[in-house]
Amino acid sequence: MLGTGFIGRFYTDSLIGYRSRDEVVSVYSRKMESSKKFADDYNVPFHTDSMEEAVDRDEVDVVCISLPNHLHEEAVNLCVKHRKGVICTKPLGRNADEALRMMRAVEEAGIFNGYLEDLVYTPKFLKAWESVKAGAIGRVLWAKSRETHPGPHSDWFWDKEIAGGGAILDLGCHCIEIGRNFIGKDIRPVEVMCWADTQVKPIDAEDHAIGLVKYESGAIGQFEVSWTFRGGLDLRDEVMGDEGTIWSNGFMRTGLEIFTSGKSGGYIAEKAESDSGWLFPVGDELNELGYNHMFMDMFNAMENGTEPRETFYDGYVVNAVMDAAYKSVKSKKWEPVALDVWRGQTGVTKHDHLTEYDSDYYLVKEEITHYGAKKLILKHKETGKIEERVGED
Ligand SMILES: NC(=O)c1ccc[n+]([C@@H]2O[C@H](COP(=O)([O-])OP(=O)(O)OC[C@H]3O[C@@H](n4cnc5c(N)ncnc54)[C@H](O)[C@@H]3O)[C@@H](O)[C@H]2O)c1
Repeated sequence: MLGTGFIGRFYTDSLIGYRSRDEVVSVYSRKMESSKKFADDYNVPFHTDSMEEAVDRDEVDVVCISLPNHLHEEAVNLCVKHRKGVICTKPLGRNADEALRMMRAVEEAGIFNGYLEDLVYTPKFLKAWESVKAGAIGRVLWAKSRETHPGPHSDWFWDKEIAGGGAILDLGCHCIEIGRNFIGKDIRPVEVMCWADTQVKPIDAEDHAIGLVKYESGAIGQFEVSWTFRGGLDLRDEVMGDEGTIWSNGFMRTGLEIFTSGKSGGYIAEKAESDSGWLFPVGDELNELGYNHMFMDMFNAMENGTEPRETFYDGYVVNAVMDAAYKSVKSKKWEPVALDVWRGQTGVTKHDHLTEYDSDYYLVKEEITHYGAKKLILKHKETGKIEERVGED
């Protein structure tokens, strides 16, 4: 485990807790006392303040990168050097160039690689995604994902150089990969339009953004991210298909509500802003955030010699979409997604929107009104005229 902070601990809680056969055998933190504290807390036999020493150990099968964004590439290169499998937290890189270098390095070395995008492994996401794959909502037209909270918990996130960006890079990466999964990871994201601003925090990066990602099939992904949202961690997805709709609320107001006068205080849930009054904890946080299913997929794939659902390639595509978003913020125009490597379909065309009614008409809509009339709205194929028929079958 490289990194002993917020996500290093969440990951460790999950990976040693769920399958009960995985172990953290070596841990690195830049301060010896932090690595020792972590080793004591989790019973880890080896701790160090040298990243390379932590990686280069016989008993290490796979390295989990839980470090600030500017250290991901250095850590990946150590895994390549010592031929260790590697799983890396999000975002993979600070930009697509970094991500591409990491992807090429692990692929050329032939080492196992996984991209730790936990939000495509939450139980709700998995159920929604399986429904989409089974055709429950038809053709996906629009996939919106929102992650907003009152801002990150450590200094480095707020430094644009170290982090690589603001709310888009930190949270947009989740939302973009959620949208991609719903729309189809083999469908090419072609261009991005994005608004971003720094509305509240005294920082150089954006603290709030909304973006649209256009896919080759004509589907649209939408991301809404903020470090200025008040009230906790808001994780919501909405997917619209031509045969159905999915609404999913991942974290707040999901059914468990507790009132407390606040006497006990303490931890409620990630980014919760209050520990008194009506509270909305999320039950099993590790599970609801997808960590358990994510590590199960990663390690099962590793043992079976297959690819996990999310690899460095996915991290690279997400970085490329975010690069286009940052360009669009500046240009105020749709910006193309530059993908030097694309492994999905090519030449996908927009789906036909004309539904046949009979040889002369297209069907616009059918409806039974509150006063009992059956209405049929049709468009004439030749004249283009819209016509209404009432009470006909
Ligand atoms: N849901 C998620 O997938 C999720 C959630 C939070 C964070 N993350 C990602 O995890 C990574 C780490 O974030 P975090 O929230 O754990 O941060 P953190 O600040 O809580 O912990 C970072 C760890 O890296 C160490 N570190 C910090 N600066 C360092 C430096 N210059 N040199 C060496 N070590 C340094 C810290 O001591 C700490 O052990 C980031 O890439 C972040 O985007 C992912």
